[in-house]
Amino acid sequence: MPNKRPEIIVTANFPSLIENAVKRLAARISKVSSRGAICLTGGSTPKPLYQRLATEPYRSELPWNRIHWFWGDDRFVPPEDERSNAGMARAAFLDRLPIPPGNIHAIPTNASNPHEAARHYEAELTRFYGSNLLNPERPLFDLVLMGLGSDGHTASLFPKHSALIEMNRWVVGVEQAGIAPFVPRVSLTFPALASTREMMFLVSGQEKRNVVDRVLSGQDLPATRAHATGNLTWLIDREAAPEAYPVSSGGT
Ligand code: 6PG
Repeated sequence: MPNKRPEIIVTANFPSLIENAVKRLAARISKVSSRGAICLTGGSTPKPLYQRLATEPYRSELPWNRIHWFWGDDRFVPPEDERSNAGMARAAFLDRLPIPPGNIHAIPTNASNPHEAARHYEAELTRFYGSNLLNPERPLFDLVLMGLGSDGHTASLFPKHSALIEMNRWVVGVEQAGIAPFVPRVSLTFPALASTREMMFLVSGQEKRNVVDRVLSGQDLPATRAHATGNLTWLIDREAAPEAYPVSSGGT
């Protein structure tokens, strides 16, 4: 667990987790004056959050032209494959809103292999950032969304994988996923994911309670190593939160 303590928000249920998340995401976007960048996570948990962004009031109120969208990881499959994180987010909201196509930066899974995709995506990130050196005073992202796998992985950074200790590269190819779907992945590394005003984990469901407990008690799992130059927030619903954590005041 990073040196500063995370903010832990326990919500009464999954719908209230999504409502909390969309309000925090919208607040983060509303603070952007010229150009902002949101880093999306994959998996199933965030889908209702993405779908909510395409509904009112967010649909009409948010400055879609100012925001750029990236991914923290993706499966190395075509965008039309049902396992694609980019495909899921496009269907859920990106393709339903007035977002300039140039603002959507999907991981190029049409590359010849995950390592080449990683090199291309790293180049796209450094071009967008304007440097290949991350300055903690000038974060790459305004918000990084993160999920948590039952094995403690986050993004596509799996237990015991060499990518966990990669401190120079921003993006790596992952030949073997440690959990389904067992397809190669492309993932941002911890230094790139950490370059953000806020990192927000979204975790839901009884099946995650054990791993949440392990991470929050400091066991050395990939998600425990996640950190942010800005704020670190855990949004966890009642089912996934350890008993000792009460529902937060804003969590209903
Ligand atoms: C992915 C995600 C991954 C995900 C967790 C949780 O590509 O699968 O980036 O890190 O967030 O596996 O997935 P669920 O939300 O489906 O439980």
